[in-house]
Amino acid sequence: MSNWDRVRASAPGKFILFGEHAVVYGEPSLSLALDRRVTVSAQRRGGAISVNGATLNSYRHAYIEAALKSHWSGGGLRIRTRSRLPSASGLGSSAALSVATVAALMALESGAPPKPSRVAKAAFEAELRVQGAASPNDTTASTHGQGVFLAPEPEAGLPRLWKIQRNQRTWIAHHVDAPPVSFVVAHSGQRGRTADQVALVKKRVDAGGDALKSIRRIGQITREGRKALQQNDLQRVGRLMDENHEHLARLGVETDRLAALVQASRKAPGTLGAKLTGAGGGGSMIVLTTSPPEAKRALERVQAPAWIINVGGGGLEVEG
Ligand code: MEV
Repeated sequence: MSNWDRVRASAPGKFILFGEHAVVYGEPSLSLALDRRVTVSAQRRGGAISVNGATLNSYRHAYIEAALKSHWSGGGLRIRTRSRLPSASGLGSSAALSVATVAALMALESGAPPKPSRVAKAAFEAELRVQGAASPNDTTASTHGQGVFLAPEPEAGLPRLWKIQRNQRTWIAHHVDAPPVSFVVAHSGQRGRTADQVALVKKRVDAGGDALKSIRRIGQITREGRKALQQNDLQRVGRLMDENHEHLARLGVETDRLAALVQASRKAPGTLGAKLTGAGGGGSMIVLTTSPPEAKRALERVQAPAWIINVGGGGLEVEG
């Protein structure tokens, strides 16, 4: 029998295959969920709210606090979190934490699992509170799992999931089948804060110059990349990943370390394409390759922790 005084919610990490940053400016993005998840357990109790045995702290628990502000009407809570994702890695750990926390709180309040579309919208709002500027990309990808194409208008031929609107912007989430391929992900060892990188790109866009051209070209790359992926044209997907990376570098979110990792992976036999993923300024990069062990070894030779990862992880799960 379920007991909705105590719930557990989990959501997957993700990486962005195409479209980061451009998605903040009304362009599409394509994300793939990972088979690694963040789990949040929440239980009603007397007294205060604790997180992993400590008092709720605005700095350490910013995403949890943002979710609590909108989705908890008071009362003591014991919250526990467990993550199989490196944090600030560009693999969606804060979005997965927001999604799982919002879902757990909604389930505690209502005594039933919440609708994914409600969770996606609410987790986006919670993430916005912390980051200041964001698209619903990460929280939508983490809620739905599998593959998600987020676009400003309906995309012909793709099943539609839900619509999110904020200020003058509309994002429509579509389901995409995840490809039956493994990617290699490597961590730069640097911490990139999404809010800082989004602000940096905004400065460049506001200053004029070529930044907006890069944003628009990333939008086209994302549309072409989505089609190439669904036609299983992996050579083309790889070339488009390379081009997407060059535009992210022009926007200023590449670091020397990320550039070195991308270069190292491109020399490995079998590499079809490589790019940074997520906000940049550190975090992770991804490689599409016909030989994942070769790419992993090439990255480890330059002292980067690297993992062969499977995509297409399931979305939000909630149990009482
Ligand atoms: C961060 O994972 C993705 C960005 O496009 C920001 C966002 O969409 O909120 C850089």
